[in-house]
Amino acid sequence: MTKQRSKLVVGNWKMHGRLAANAALLEGVAQGAQALPADVRVGVCVPFVYLAQAQALLGGSRVAWGSQDVSAHEQGAYTGEVAAGMVADFEAGFAIVGHSERRAYHGESPELVAVKTQRALAAGVTPIVCVGETLEERESGATEQVVGAQLDAVLAVLSEQEAAQIVVAYEPVWAIGTGRSATTQQAQQVHAFLRARLAAKGANVADVPLLYGGSVKPDNAAELFRQADIDGGLIGGASLKAQDFLAICAAATAGASVAG
Ligand code: PGA
Repeated sequence: MTKQRSKLVVGNWKMHGRLAANAALLEGVAQGAQALPADVRVGVCVPFVYLAQAQALLGGSRVAWGSQDVSAHEQGAYTGEVAAGMVADFEAGFAIVGHSERRAYHGESPELVAVKTQRALAAGVTPIVCVGETLEERESGATEQVVGAQLDAVLAVLSEQEAAQIVVAYEPVWAIGTGRSATTQQAQQVHAFLRARLAAKGANVADVPLLYGGSVKPDNAAELFRQADIDGGLIGGASLKAQDFLAICAAATAGASVAG
């Protein structure tokens, strides 16, 4: 019997947006979210500078907000960095950590991602820990080894109680922004692997939400979210249009997991 976990869909705006356009998008999402089934949780991760705007426009709605990164430091002489505590000041519910774009363009190591995860947890912000393999790694058969090592680096520094509070997002690098989503079978297979890895950390950790990310669109979301170990999605491009994002959120419910 597969346990029913509630679904979570989070938007990742990346470096998109301006005040005026954001207002329309945030208001559209907040309003549309009212019609979503109660078992779907929704969030949007915005650029740091728009956290205050998200707080102002989403406060009191069912949509949570968050950042796309946090510093590995608590505070200090780190010009340009933003601490998890600062993000928490704006009542952020989530912080993405270890997104593949940060691992690739900012040289973030598994150990650094682990520290960022700790900082977010310490500030009371739920970290969304991203893992994923490149096309080359997949083609050489190293997918499980790569995502396993990325997840293990984080689990290694957390207690069982802490680990139970994270969210994990599987985002194959080759599927991000390419229009080429993983097939449902490919995604479910990696999710099942990650689920087992989480369960090995402790019974409480087994039910950590496992999101899939990488070219999720309104027309492929329902099938992905129906998989036994896919608890929702991390949505890039399609989170920039209220209608598309809401359609993906709506697909999360009908897709109550099939027995796996
Ligand atoms: P995408 O991005 O939905 O545009 O592929 C997902 C992500 O990078 O979080």
